[in-house]
Amino acid sequence: MTHPHLCSIPTPDHPITGLMGDSVVFLPNLRYMIQIYRGHWKPIAISQIFALLYVTFMIFIPMQVMIIINNARDIDAAVQNAVLIGIFAVLTGIFCMANTVYAVRIAEATGNYIRNGIFARIQSFSFGNLDRSATGELLTRLTSDVYQINIGVQLSLRSLLMAPFAIIVSLILVAITSPELLWILVVVLLLSTATFGVAMFVMQKQFQTRQAKYDLVNNNLQEDMAGIRVVKAFVRQEYEIEKYRSTNDGFRLANVNPLHTNAITMPAALFIMGLATTLLILYGSPLVAAGTIKIGAMLAFFQYTFIIIGQMWMLSMLMPQIVSAEASAGRLKEIWDTVPDVVDRPAARPAAAGNVKGKIVFENVHFRYDPKGETDTLKNINLTIEPGQTVAFLGANGSGKSTLVSLIPRFYDVSGGRILIDGVDVREIPQDDLRNIVSVALQKAFLFSGTIVENIRFGRPESSYDDAKAAAQVADADSFVVAQQDQYDARVSRKGQNFSGGQQQRISMARAFTVRPKILILDDSTSAVDIETEGRILTALPKFLTGVTRLIVASRVSTALAADKIVVLEKGEIVAMGTHKELIKSSPLYQDIFDSQLGGLKKEDIS
Ligand SMILES: Nc1ncnc2c1ncn2[C@@H]1O[C@H](COP(=O)(O)OP(=O)(O)O)[C@@H](O)[C@H]1O
Ligand SMILES: [Mg+2]
Repeated sequence: MTHPHLCSIPTPDHPITGLMGDSVVFLPNLRYMIQIYRGHWKPIAISQIFALLYVTFMIFIPMQVMIIINNARDIDAAVQNAVLIGIFAVLTGIFCMANTVYAVRIAEATGNYIRNGIFARIQSFSFGNLDRSATGELLTRLTSDVYQINIGVQLSLRSLLMAPFAIIVSLILVAITSPELLWILVVVLLLSTATFGVAMFVMQKQFQTRQAKYDLVNNNLQEDMAGIRVVKAFVRQEYEIEKYRSTNDGFRLANVNPLHTNAITMPAALFIMGLATTLLILYGSPLVAAGTIKIGAMLAFFQYTFIIIGQMWMLSMLMPQIVSAEASAGRLKEIWDTVPDVVDRPAARPAAAGNVKGKIVFENVHFRYDPKGETDTLKNINLTIEPGQTVAFLGANGSGKSTLVSLIPRFYDVSGGRILIDGVDVREIPQDDLRNIVSVALQKAFLFSGTIVENIRFGRPESSYDDAKAAAQVADADSFVVAQQDQYDARVSRKGQNFSGGQQQRISMARAFTVRPKILILDDSTSAVDIETEGRILTALPKFLTGVTRLIVASRVSTALAADKIVVLEKGEIVAMGTHKELIKSSPLYQDIFDSQLGGLKKEDIS
């Protein structure tokens, strides 16, 4: 089976639009999600053939019964017919089982395919898309929503085609054998359709609400788990418990509503069945007495009525599930169709890192996180960085340092102006190439569970053990790594919990160095490293990554002192730029920062 759409991520120019067109109103989302997996067509067709065979044999049993009763005096024929009924019953069972087996397999495969596809899509999300999607929500969608679809698909394959078929054929057979009674079935059908139709409509809304509440519960749980140490440190367990209880109660209520609605459908089916029986006896008995219809036909009619109501009831069981799957499919489709904020342009030309010198130019760059928002996070950024230069960025928290450097590898795209590497707009470079050229140690160091060497080689898995060790030496991580029993094969637990913040930062820097980029960005990645160690790293770095342009976001002036250029940011604007010597004379803000941190030292000592 091929997976045609798994890796084709929608782009603004080529959105993956509804394969069904816009005219479909019946379960559009569910059909969309099922259609995505085109590999299913054959098994779906086979499963439906089994379903139809199953129903066909089931439906013919009452006919045989009718024949037997109408010709009750012919014993031989009765025996033959009875044998036929037995064979039909066995075949009904076999085909029913075959249909179920296929339905279960297709449903599981659909769920599996959708999960893989959604995961691949989340991987394609840019930082902006990720900012807007809550982890808990993504979790719900990957688990609960996919499960709803799974069950919906399974039940659909078992009844959606079969039930209407059974109903229509039963109607036809009744029309042939006892047309006088047909109107009773029409009444039954109209009543059931109205009841179940209304229930389905109401439940659709209720299921949407339920999944939204489920999102809230998951988000709440996810956030609490992430911050549970803070919760304990500040003794806020009671508050957290209360908060969870309240969202959980919301979920409970939202969960109960569709079940309440569904609870009405079963009694409704029973009521309709009772009504049909009453009508049949009142109206049918005189007809039998008068000889207008035979007793066999009357019995067959009874059985068909039960088949029809039984199938309607099956549909009423199926509908809530399908409606729920439809609501879930809608939520999954949202992710499936999300267009990443940052995409490769069709005209983007491959750029080999080997040919890049590493000159960076910001031309009148503006940036806002919220495209619809009012305020710019970065304004009028004009900056030229020569190949091989070291540039430090200083400024208060929130002044825009991280934002500024994150625009170079296109974690976000500029809102105005442009950024050039060696004269080429970064948006003209394929992202994969760009991220080989530009390597970043992010502000929040993150380690994956696994080994240390796996973490260091993460950006360049093909690099050798020695490469990793060399990078770790520069990042001053080697000393504590070799102190571990398994050295570079030492286990890293989830989120790197078995290493200190500073150690995590050093491994994360080694990871960035191992890529051997042309442009290296250290976003405050020594904040938890002591000054002495930081000094060693910054001294060793130029020898290891010769000619590499280095951008160092610093919260300490001491980190910035040796830079070729220091850029001072304030409220998203560059307010001063120059060497330490120049700035200490010209920039009052720089003087302030300097005095507050290194005020004890004489300025001349430093310069
Ligand atoms: N992902 C984000 N979404 C929305 N706003 C953000 C995001 N990241 C940062 N900001 C805002 O942008 C401003 C600059 O943040 P940042 O670049 O992280 O500052 P710095 O690194 O200098 O401390 C801050 O006001 C911050 O609130
Ligand atoms: Mg920052």
